[in-house]
Amino acid sequence: MWRKGIEKRVKILKILMEEGSSSGERIAKICGISRGAVWKHMKILMEKGVEIKVHPNKGYQFIGIGKGLFPEFIWLYRNRNDFIKEIIYFDEINSTNEYAKQIKKEATLIIAEDQRRGKGRKGSRWYSEKLKDLLFSLTLKPYLPYSKLPLFNIIGTLAVAIAVRKLYGLGAKTKWPNDVLLGGRKFCGVLVEFIAEFDVVDLLILGIGVNVNSHPNVKGATSILEVIGNEVDRLPLLIEILSALEKLYRDLKGKRFKDIQDMWKVHSFHYNREVIIQGKDKSLKGRAKGIDEDGNLILQIGNLRQIIQPTNLVKVNLV
Ligand code: BTN
Repeated sequence: MWRKGIEKRVKILKILMEEGSSSGERIAKICGISRGAVWKHMKILMEKGVEIKVHPNKGYQFIGIGKGLFPEFIWLYRNRNDFIKEIIYFDEINSTNEYAKQIKKEATLIIAEDQRRGKGRKGSRWYSEKLKDLLFSLTLKPYLPYSKLPLFNIIGTLAVAIAVRKLYGLGAKTKWPNDVLLGGRKFCGVLVEFIAEFDVVDLLILGIGVNVNSHPNVKGATSILEVIGNEVDRLPLLIEILSALEKLYRDLKGKRFKDIQDMWKVHSFHYNREVIIQGKDKSLKGRAKGIDEDGNLILQIGNLRQIIQPTNLVKVNLV
């Protein structure tokens, strides 16, 4: 559901950001609402942390946008389309992935400032610091068979690597199947879950956690703050990740797998390197030669090529 109040507040924010200062009368006229309603929306925006100076009898002056990741702020930079139709925001929640599974709605972005029981891969926990990190889940209806599931880890990790490179010039690397690294340390994880009917994925949940301005207390982990040395704004990062993800998702839906495979080579930590794949019951040593059209890892062992599926994997390490 596209909430009317949000739509008006996005419009008000756009006017204020463009004009710097505007009278209540002008905003009311453009938005087709009363001055009283403008004031109500201003109060809500200020509660959400937007800095607005109120000049009695003159109008409103925009100072700066707040630090929270409220839907209004995200809609300022994104048009509503078939990729994201609704944004649901939580100050705190158990897990955005779990919530997505409950509501079963497609094209919905669920975003939280903190998670009480953030879920990681294979039953592990995902830790975060409130208002410091990015924690979100996106629901998709890809109408694709199960075999394509690993590709969603690929596009999730790639989107983060691409965004981080674009915004901060950092050489973030994707570590197959679901991590993104900075300087060899993990700062992002992707968790793909799904609801399935017969052999087709009915609803896919793409959960992404990024350590942005926190100091993670987990072995081998880092954050963007720890690498750059200063805090960064989370909103532009989220916007860049979403737009990279949308492009990659459209490639995936359009079956342009070759483009995704090529992109993976550019951003991969393992590409063309010797790795040890630790599986559930055996280990394999070989060279990572890319991903196949389903997102599985192609391992070259002597003259043989072996396909590694993430479900059979325990760990991948460099030799
Ligand atoms: C991993 O590397 O183990 C995957 C971590 C995925 C964490 C994200 S945070 C948002 C979404 N909600 C969750 O509970 N988990 C994912």
